[in-house]
Amino acid sequence: PRIVFVQPDGSTQEIEARTGESVMTTATSHLVPGIIGDCGGGLTCATCHVYVDKDWIDVVGRREGPEDEMLEMTSEESNEYSRLCCQIVVDSSVDGLVLTVPASQE
Ligand code: FES
Repeated sequence: PRIVFVQPDGSTQEIEARTGESVMTTATSHLVPGIIGDCGGGLTCATCHVYVDKDWIDVVGRREGPEDEMLEMTSEESNEYSRLCCQIVVDSSVDGLVLTVPASQE
């Protein structure tokens, strides 16, 4: 599945992701700028914050539970389209997913 990362300056990077990996792992292994993932996916760092394109938010699902609470601690303010991308698992349903990287993570 392809995932498109949009940088704050509007530049885009399209990556072929592996099914079963998290979007955070996909981004860091391809050196996508602005996705850090300090805690390795443990839901304790909030440095994997992304803004999901509004056409995709119902596909990947909205923030909830402990992730919702961690999203209160992001560097750039979170909103209703915010997710911590270590919590998004790649499968065929996310082919074409568009995510915007925040200007700052820490
Ligand atoms: Fe730390 Fe996602 S990688 S919360």
